Amino acid sequence: MPDHKTALITGASFGIGLELARLFARDGYSLVLVARSADKLRQLASEFEKAHGTRSLILASDLSAPGAAAYVHDQTARAEITVDVLVNNAGFGQFGLFAENDLEECLQQIQLNITTLTHLTRLYLPEMLQRKSGRILNVASTAAFQAGPLMSVYYATKAYVLHFSEGIANELRGTGVTVTCLCPGPTVTEFAKRAKILTARLFKLGAMDARTVAEDGYRALMAGKPIVISGFKNWLTAQSVRFAPRSWVTAVARKLQETRKE
Ligand SMILES: NC(=O)c1ccc[n+]([C@@H]2O[C@H](COP(=O)([O-])OP(=O)(O)OC[C@H]3O[C@@H](n4cnc5c(N)ncnc54)[C@H](OP(=O)(O)O)[C@@H]3O)[C@@H](O)[C@H]2O)c1
Repeated sequence: MPDHKTALITGASFGIGLELARLFARDGYSLVLVARSADKLRQLASEFEKAHGTRSLILASDLSAPGAAAYVHDQTARAEITVDVLVNNAGFGQFGLFAENDLEECLQQIQLNITTLTHLTRLYLPEMLQRKSGRILNVASTAAFQAGPLMSVYYATKAYVLHFSEGIANELRGTGVTVTCLCPGPTVTEFAKRAKILTARLFKLGAMDARTVAEDGYRALMAGKPIVISGFKNWLTAQSVRFAPRSWVTAVARKLQETRKE
């Protein structure tokens, strides 16, 4: 790999991760692109190569499998790649009543959204600390700010991502390594389709485009900010829940999460 800095992006094949990859490629970074869709990643790598001369390592990996983070870290070590920026973006949401949802999928959600994110951070962080330089971007959600009936586990995973990120951002002060947590609200990507919540009020009320969300995250990451909520409306909503009774906030979150009955 070249002398350029390298960004490793999980979930780079679609949505916000793809738009983040575009921004890093534009700015001359080499890339490590991770997701399951190998063909899509190859196509993007070739697009970036043509447009910017970007060199990419593609790692087709199911990050909801235990051991996936260690595999990714091993592969970058073998290729002698220094990861300057780690972007933990891959994630998915399972919709439905917790008691009725498929348990296997529920646990995969926790593994991907929480465990792999934590594991990757723990694997790359010591190397960054040794170099006294590095940036980490963890993608949470505005779901992190309150409970979310009908997506209870998803909302809870994002609360973890936010609190974990803010905690270590504080621990890392003065080390040269920064941690930024990006909290998008509803965004037009594959996410809602995959979670089967396209008809949820939350999405009907308006969703941002993935490029704008990625730009907000990228700017905050480069500025070393601990947290960024993308979009003024989302920022306002996240602030407002702090002053309302929790049971009321949870009831409103349920209303917003409900999908249209077909
Ligand atoms: N869209 C929203 O409304 C919204 C709002 C707030 C937060 N977020 C968060 O933003 C992040 C990105 O989501 P998105 O909206 O861009 O959704 P998306 O379009 O569905 O993209 C998700 C990305 O994660 C990858 N991914 C999913 N499961 C994976 C697995 N098991 N192993 C490896 N990669 C996996 C997908 O790639 P493959 O399918 O190729 O594996 C894809 O590249 C997620 O953490 C999500 O929770 C989204």
